[in-house]
Amino acid sequence: MSIHTEIKKVTTETLRKMKQKGEKITMLTAYDFTTAKMVDAGGVDTILVGDSAANVMAGYSTTLPITLDQMIYHAQSVVRGVQRALVIVDLPFGTYQSNPEKALESAIRIMKETDANAIKLEGGAEAADAIKKIVDAGIPVMGHLGLTPQSINQFGGYGLRAKEEAEAEKLIADALLLQAMGCFGVVLEKIPAALAQRVTAQLAIPTIGIGAGVHCDGQVLVYHDMVGMNEGFAPKFLRKYLNLYTEITGAVSTYVKDVKEQNFPSVSESY
Ligand code: KIV
Repeated sequence: MSIHTEIKKVTTETLRKMKQKGEKITMLTAYDFTTAKMVDAGGVDTILVGDSAANVMAGYSTTLPITLDQMIYHAQSVVRGVQRALVIVDLPFGTYQSNPEKALESAIRIMKETDANAIKLEGGAEAADAIKKIVDAGIPVMGHLGLTPQSINQFGGYGLRAKEEAEAEKLIADALLLQAMGCFGVVLEKIPAALAQRVTAQLAIPTIGIGAGVHCDGQVLVYHDMVGMNEGFAPKFLRKYLNLYTEITGAVSTYVKDVKEQNFPSVSESY
């Protein structure tokens, strides 16, 4: 039997065992109670309260504006809807980069105020001290390498990262460092599949890929993208399992028509 079907509550230890057994790990984002409940019921192993909430919930063009208070609000809502999945919360931009003490304070606020299971933060060597400080306080940390959206102004775009060998070598060194600092896993975003395969083979901790090919230990997608709510967003790595944008706008226009033509409510829908 797979670990996935046996487990009542997923922990970081569950993910470690899944990697050891070669069982793929699933992750989706969620930012609210109702979605988190559905995603958990669908059997996903981990739910990420991503700072992508800044994009899909608030409409910002980058993840930079979202605050710690806003992330805590989203995480509290998600945790109330989840029974089985491991809930991981992003530390937002500006809450961990300045020094390890500030990073620990931000991580503690998330753990104390939301009842989530772990935090995630972006970066390699430059984030190492912050990661060590948070892990030493007993908080599980997931790393994030490759395309790290909080550095978008430095990258200048959302293109593929680590195409050149020098950046690829740095990414491998960073991944090994994150593991040494105590991370329980690492997200690899938008890097060549062959590089993700090399990193995955060298790490004992699981890699979770987005736009990083099939050889990662697991996969993550943004929920709104995966159910096709985000019209016009169609990067190569994205598989849309539904086309909810069309479904929902269609349902809304039918409702508008029904009300205008006095087809809603009917007698049986009235008291
Ligand atoms: O914020 C987010 O949704 C993420 C995933 C894309 C990994 O960091």
